[in-house]
Amino acid sequence: MIQVTRRYRFSASHRLHAPQLSEELNREIYGKCNHPFGHGHNYILEVTVGGAIGGDGRVVDPRRLDCLVEQEVIQRLDHRSLNADVPEFSELVPTTENLAVVIAGRLDACWKQMFPGGGPRIEKIRLEETGNNSFELKLSKL
Ligand code: NI
Repeated sequence: MIQVTRRYRFSASHRLHAPQLSEELNREIYGKCNHPFGHGHNYILEVTVGGAIGGDGRVVDPRRLDCLVEQEVIQRLDHRSLNADVPEFSELVPTTENLAVVIAGRLDACWKQMFPGGGPRIEKIRLEETGNNSFELKLSKL
């Protein structure tokens, strides 16, 4: 089994704020990330897929993977406010941990349609929020 990773970029803004908590408690928990008007990040997304080498000598057709990520992730998140524009975050705090889970869910939902009849599996999502922190989500069953 070989793993292949492709890298994508998008920019989005967020505000870390839990609506069920008080303003004071939100400020205490999230600090400057709770600033009312939000702030932006240039996210780097890495999608790792794994599988056997096919008859074409490849594990995955990168055009198909790019197409899926473009449709399901980039077009929906790039230059958006995660809090205001992305339905999954209407109640969920848009931390990068939660963003990784949301991205994995969207890719998983359309995976079989893009890669019918077996093919590569999605193995890992890695999301870089800044140069100082990154988040990895390992997917076993997808
Ligand atoms: Ni932030």
